[in-house]
Amino acid sequence: GKLAPFVDPLPIPPTLRPVAGKVLDVRMAQTAQKLHRDLPPTELWTYGGHYPGPTIEARTGQAFDVRWNNALPTKHFLPVDHAICGAEADQPEVRAIVHLHGAKVPRKDDGYPEDWYVPGKSRQHHYPNAQDAATLWYHDHAMGINRLNMYAGLMGLYLLRDDHELSLGLPSGEQELPLVLADRLLHTDGRLYYPDSGDASAPWVPEVFGNLTLVNGAILPRADVQPRRYRLRVLNAANGRFYHLRFKDGRPFHAIGSDQGLLAAPAKVTSIFLAPGERADLVVDFAALRGGTVELMNDALPLMRFAVGQGNVRDDSRLPDVLRDLPRVTEASASKSRELTLDEYSDCVATPMLMLLNGKRWHDPVTETVKLGSTEMWSLVNLTEDTHPIHLHLVRFQILDRRPYDVDEYMEKKTLRYVGPAQEPPAHERGWKDVVQAYPGMVTRIVATFDGYAGRYAWHCHLAEHEANEMMRPFEVVG
Ligand code: C2O
Ligand code: CU
Repeated sequence: GKLAPFVDPLPIPPTLRPVAGKVLDVRMAQTAQKLHRDLPPTELWTYGGHYPGPTIEARTGQAFDVRWNNALPTKHFLPVDHAICGAEADQPEVRAIVHLHGAKVPRKDDGYPEDWYVPGKSRQHHYPNAQDAATLWYHDHAMGINRLNMYAGLMGLYLLRDDHELSLGLPSGEQELPLVLADRLLHTDGRLYYPDSGDASAPWVPEVFGNLTLVNGAILPRADVQPRRYRLRVLNAANGRFYHLRFKDGRPFHAIGSDQGLLAAPAKVTSIFLAPGERADLVVDFAALRGGTVELMNDALPLMRFAVGQGNVRDDSRLPDVLRDLPRVTEASASKSRELTLDEYSDCVATPMLMLLNGKRWHDPVTETVKLGSTEMWSLVNLTEDTHPIHLHLVRFQILDRRPYDVDEYMEKKTLRYVGPAQEPPAHERGWKDVVQAYPGMVTRIVATFDGYAGRYAWHCHLAEHEANEMMRPFEVVG
């Protein structure tokens, strides 16, 4: 039957506060967790015994190490596809490697897909935290199976704070809520269901959409809030679902940050469209809703309810008009530009569908070789009919614009002919990003400075099923 809505309180993941000079240990293990009052516990794979994993609280300028211990079972409970690159039958079935998404870290600490290790092993990562405050997150990135590991539950938030952000007086403490969104399919007994193609030798499917969304691990939870301002740190951690977030009563709210931290100024919106991998830092004011309720929606479907208390509270939090100094990068700042296609082949015999970056597979030689410290403009030419959220490790970037072009002409002659004006990103996308929605029929241009560390990193589509099946490429930063 239908699960009763808004009966479970919104879970808040536990917090991990690293101590200088001490290594933080986090264990990956199979855990049973209740996702709804009326469901039996669901077997998940978690960090630190919780889904989502503990929220790591970090401060800019304070480095620390985390030792990620793989204590997972040696058999996977979701359908591994041995035809997928990296998950061949001669590979250990269960492998894990933690990527800290959005972090500027040395190559050895990044969670490169091929740096996986098996149950019983661990790996220590050093996190310099030498970057601006941002909503980062950590998740599994093991070659060929990370879509399954993430779906099983291997993810958590990593909130990096800095003095500037803390000086702004934004809502904090109990008025700052993490919201980790991820859809799932469940059997009626609560077990996770991950769909397959029907072909036992090649179970991979190009997309996974659940019929339920977990908000911090709960189905249709309720947050009891006060009639005051709240800061919502939203992460779309779904494998394939985009969320079109709005409040049921249409109330406006403010976007104050995106993937890589604060915007220049709050952007007033009534909805926000979030792709897998993207984060939104939002401020919403419930003051006028004293004693009432409002649902957070994905289009017409509720995700959770905010139940606003009756009390008279004093709200000392602020929503400043200016959040930070954030100059717009320009095309002229790039010393090199690349034209990179997003491709889809659906008439292939071996696989029902194949999506690639610039026509190349993961194991093809590196083509994106970038000079350390240089600034590049990447034009993402989307030849497919879908939006792909493209993520680059190591760097933050800005979206220059998106511009419609003639796809057929490009396919035929490889020439780029624009058929409309360039569209600047909306205000809430005008900050620093690490995932960009590359729309179909458009060329999406981004500018990034490749500073920090030399080495081989990854860039990929953040639709986990695309990424798993070759829509991921290495890039190399050379000193
Ligand atoms: Cu969140 Cu390489 O990804
Ligand atoms: Cu994709």
